[in-house]
Amino acid sequence: MVIAIDGPAGSGKSSTARLVASRLGIVHLDTGAMYRAVTLKCLREGIAHTDDGALGVLMSRTSIVFEGSGSVMRTIMNGEDVTDAIRSDEVTRHVSEYCVPAVVRNALVEQQRLLGSRNSVVCEGRDIGTVVFPNAELKIYMIASVEERARRRQKDFAAMGIHKSLIELRAEIELRDRKDSTRSNSPLRKAEDALELDTTGLSLEEQAGIIVERARALSGTNDN
Ligand code: DC
Repeated sequence: MVIAIDGPAGSGKSSTARLVASRLGIVHLDTGAMYRAVTLKCLREGIAHTDDGALGVLMSRTSIVFEGSGSVMRTIMNGEDVTDAIRSDEVTRHVSEYCVPAVVRNALVEQQRLLGSRNSVVCEGRDIGTVVFPNAELKIYMIASVEERARRRQKDFAAMGIHKSLIELRAEIELRDRKDSTRSNSPLRKAEDALELDTTGLSLEEQAGIIVERARALSGTNDN
């Protein structure tokens, strides 16, 4: 089974997908982490997001895999654990540039489809229900108010020792939303057959519970 979860930055996709995957005992595929890993590598190597030639070479020598499961899932790029490095402020500010080039998207979408063809997955991102897995059995489009999303980001950053104001975070989120939803290649949008889930005011448990219930109803299992 493929469960596709899409939505804007801070809508709660990652934490929800992680919990859903652990409840259902299936793989969690965080596609944003893959775009972040590529961004980190490009920033380190000084490769511009407009340099298709260099990006193509970089993609051909970059492997991104996930190790572990549940809350201890690590992102490994060419053998290096980049789980924390890909959440840096710098990577976050630049990722919406590096996720645009077709040479980057095509390579990552291919890897995502391969993983989805081998395992039952909860796959989260921006184009999962529309492009990566248009035939996913269950599609969820998560949204939340900008204020709530800024508050969540502030908490995430605080846990990393980074302190940012809500006004600054709100502006960053709005900019990223605009870039993600107006790009011509695989923009963020709700698939027609996706269930919209507004997570403003919902707890993580509640969000995950709604998705787990739907998934179980679809697969005909009601245990637990
Ligand atoms: O979910 P996230 O914030 O970690 O994603 C980081 C960026 O990657 C986000 O700005 C948009 C991009 N992205 C994408 O273009 N397509 C995806 N399937 C997942 C993420």
